Amino acid sequence: MAQDQSKQGLLRETDGLSEDGIGLDSDSDIAATRNLDREPPTSGHVLHAQMKRQQWDFIRFLGRRSRCCIATVSTIIVLWILLSAAGAFFYKKYQEEPSYGQSPPWYPSPKGGIAKSWAVSYEKAAKMVEKMTLAEKVNITTGTGWQMGLAVGTNGPAVHVGFPQLQLQDGPLGVRFADNITAFPAGITVGATWNRQLMYARGKAHGIEARGKGINVLLGPCVGPLGRMPAGGRNWEGFGADPYLQGVAGAETVKGIQSEGVMATIKHFVANEQEHFRQPWEWGLPHAISSNIDDRTLHELYVWPFADAVKAGVAAAMCSYNMVNNSYSCGNSKLLNGILKDELGFQGFVMSDWLAQHSGVGSALAGLDMTMPGDGVGWANGESLWGPQLSRAVLNGSVPVNRLNDMVTRIVAAWYQLGQDDETKFPRQPPNFSSWTDDRMGVLAPGSPSPQDKVVVNQFVDVQANHSVIAREVAAEGTVLLKNEGLLPITRQGLDASKLEVRRRDLEKLTGKRHSGKFKIGVFGEDAGPGNGPNHCKDRACNQGTLGSGWGSGAVEFPYLVSPIEALRKQFDSSKVEVHEYLTNKPSLNDDKTIVDDLELCIVFANADSGEGFVKWENVRGDRPDLNLQRGGDDLIVNVASKCGSGSGDVIVVIHAVGPVLMEKWIELPNVKAVLLANLPGQESGNALADVLFGDTNPSGHLPYTIGKSLSEYGPGGQVLYLPNGVVPQQDFSEGLYIDYRYFDKHNIDPRFEFGFGLSYTTFNLSNLQVASHRHKSPLPAPRPSPAANPPSYPTTIPPKSEVLFPTGFRALEKYIYPYLSSVDDIEPGQYPYPDGYDTAQPLSGAGGDEGGNPDLWAIYVTVTVDVKNDGPVAGAAVPQLYLEYPAKEGVEFPIRVLRGFDKLYLAPGESQTVHFSLTRRDLSYWDVAEQNWVMVAEGQYRFKVGFSSRDLLLTGTW
Ligand code: BGC
Repeated sequence: MAQDQSKQGLLRETDGLSEDGIGLDSDSDIAATRNLDREPPTSGHVLHAQMKRQQWDFIRFLGRRSRCCIATVSTIIVLWILLSAAGAFFYKKYQEEPSYGQSPPWYPSPKGGIAKSWAVSYEKAAKMVEKMTLAEKVNITTGTGWQMGLAVGTNGPAVHVGFPQLQLQDGPLGVRFADNITAFPAGITVGATWNRQLMYARGKAHGIEARGKGINVLLGPCVGPLGRMPAGGRNWEGFGADPYLQGVAGAETVKGIQSEGVMATIKHFVANEQEHFRQPWEWGLPHAISSNIDDRTLHELYVWPFADAVKAGVAAAMCSYNMVNNSYSCGNSKLLNGILKDELGFQGFVMSDWLAQHSGVGSALAGLDMTMPGDGVGWANGESLWGPQLSRAVLNGSVPVNRLNDMVTRIVAAWYQLGQDDETKFPRQPPNFSSWTDDRMGVLAPGSPSPQDKVVVNQFVDVQANHSVIAREVAAEGTVLLKNEGLLPITRQGLDASKLEVRRRDLEKLTGKRHSGKFKIGVFGEDAGPGNGPNHCKDRACNQGTLGSGWGSGAVEFPYLVSPIEALRKQFDSSKVEVHEYLTNKPSLNDDKTIVDDLELCIVFANADSGEGFVKWENVRGDRPDLNLQRGGDDLIVNVASKCGSGSGDVIVVIHAVGPVLMEKWIELPNVKAVLLANLPGQESGNALADVLFGDTNPSGHLPYTIGKSLSEYGPGGQVLYLPNGVVPQQDFSEGLYIDYRYFDKHNIDPRFEFGFGLSYTTFNLSNLQVASHRHKSPLPAPRPSPAANPPSYPTTIPPKSEVLFPTGFRALEKYIYPYLSSVDDIEPGQYPYPDGYDTAQPLSGAGGDEGGNPDLWAIYVTVTVDVKNDGPVAGAAVPQLYLEYPAKEGVEFPIRVLRGFDKLYLAPGESQTVHFSLTRRDLSYWDVAEQNWVMVAEGQYRFKVGFSSRDLLLTGTW
């Protein structure tokens, strides 16, 4: 195919060459052609002579040209042959190796309905599903196509039994493409709060808004990517580069969202760690990248947070674009059937990421339950791998009827489980907003070229309530104070009177110059200002103005964005403070020398952005190319620090970022007295920052990742693969368990700021660590329990073909995906080749048995308690963290320490409280590849270290 195309290309080029040649190279040729064209012949012989001359000219021309042409054509052919040979060589090399499908087979797909917590919903679902026709069942599993509804994803209904279309909408920080919603802080900011209650509260508010907008399924939270690579483009959608932190934050978010009856979707399952090559064709390659992960690492790092979400009762899971061990995640039976459904006991349904499904029958057998957005072969082309194809596959017997029934039952059970059959809460209507237009009127399926009547599609329902309060709290608590040399908090008058007097006297001694009058502050950087407005670029895919979120499907339309300057202008007391604004990264400080020399305090803003790989901004193609501040942020900070108050003014640096940024160029400058990492604060950015600057909120954010001194410090596993290393790019996770702080610890590298680090305006003290044992150590969990409920059973006979014929008189919209077929005559049941290993039923996992896995894994074995005291001058919140060190075990290597507990305590000055860390069997185990189970180290002593960061561990206890 590729060869044919290039052949045609070559012919066209050669043709063009000779035509052009006539006109360009010879005057006589030009004349001859002109004559021929323009002067009508007067008589026969003149005409004849003229023609002869012209023919002769033309033959001479061809003679000259042909030498030249032969040379050119020969060169092209030789080049072509060389290129083809090289292409064939590489194609062969990379195409053949590795072969597709190195992930082990796991069949048959476990049926939903084994957990007590879902039993009632499954019973109700069974009663509904048994009445459905084949077309109705298929309809429920298949999206109607891109832009074939008002939400980003809509499946088909089962009208006769009263099951509505489900409306699926992004995303993890707010309701995407909607008006009058809240733009909450992004996941990474939530992670930085280390505050379980806020995680839940934000999820709940998000759920209220989604329901208010008519959404059934929210496409979040995101716990994958985990953050293996600090420059990974979508790390900010998740909660931080540690599975325990991700797991807790993900689970609290799920509980919050689902407390409002909205189904949460835990995504992206799994190992979608980078944007480059995440899906076929987006990056010019026919295949997506393969994340190659060993079994232990998969369990202990990447799947871990998904287990927490399943335990929390999550209704949906989204499989990812990438391959894992060279099988596409959405067709990977080991991942979906084996790990998610059997081992973790997931009772909800698995949907594909948008176009992440690559096989019809294969993905159904592998455990996929719903395909989104429906189109599966190409973007928005209306051709589905399911829909009518699934109808056909069930009729010809290639997809077993019981697999289809399980897909549908899982979806319907999830709907009942969340109480969505209650029409007062979930009216059976399209959402009250359209993702595709801001106009009031529009069509219901704008993706179809078929004519449609316009209806009201945007009702502009305001669902924000007082959620700005939560957004502001999360943003303030998610702000990490990284450095503070006695400068923060400042006051609305600048500095409090006594501090100001001391400072001015000191400066006078130093510079001989006495500052007087109003306190003079300079605010610098584009990131402090509104830029062109928060929604200037589509999907937020550019870095301009202050940075409130990253970009892509994880972003929303900001209803507003309080920029830092807006809040500071309002809040500084103008009778005492003079604010000079330089909302650019290239301020002309020399032109303004007299003012800049006089500044007593400079607040400099800089940032770093990234996002989803379907769109790029400058050289950030989803993933960041490095960890530098963008738009000249480093230069700005250095420049301001050197000129502010002639180099003696105090400097506060404020960073908004999607992840770690390098700070080496300025962090140790003597007048950089304070640094705040405000992460991605959402709509309340400026207000939250002011809360922290002025000390209304005592900073209590802690780093959800490590800030290194260079990108290379994160090790080989920390590097994004920017250039393909084969037709199927291969990324080996050979660093295993050692990502982020585990890598830094193992290699004894001093980061700039370690994982878990964060300062406060007060100080805390820890004492009295106690360990209470509740159960005995034993290597293996209790045996897998027998199922608490039985999955529904239905007749397995293939339904009549007529059930999937287009109903008579049906007006089909072009490109819309229906379950129907125009003819069923050619469909015959037959023998079909199934994937290798399909006929070998896998043993059920000892780690499974209930929702979230074997219940014993969640049993609490040890409690560690510690007294935390605020021994500083002001009220504040402490974040005590517990890290676990495993006993030594022959043949098993453990990370030096891993996070296994945290909490946030609000303490008045002098107040003391006890923090309780509960450690479950899973927390104390490692994944044993031979046992295929979580194993506790029964010999030797576990050590529990408690402190305020991964490297500030003051107390130790043992078990
Ligand atoms: C993203 C998902 C998102 C989906 C729907 C995909 O490109 O990877 O996270 O939910 O689109 O917008």
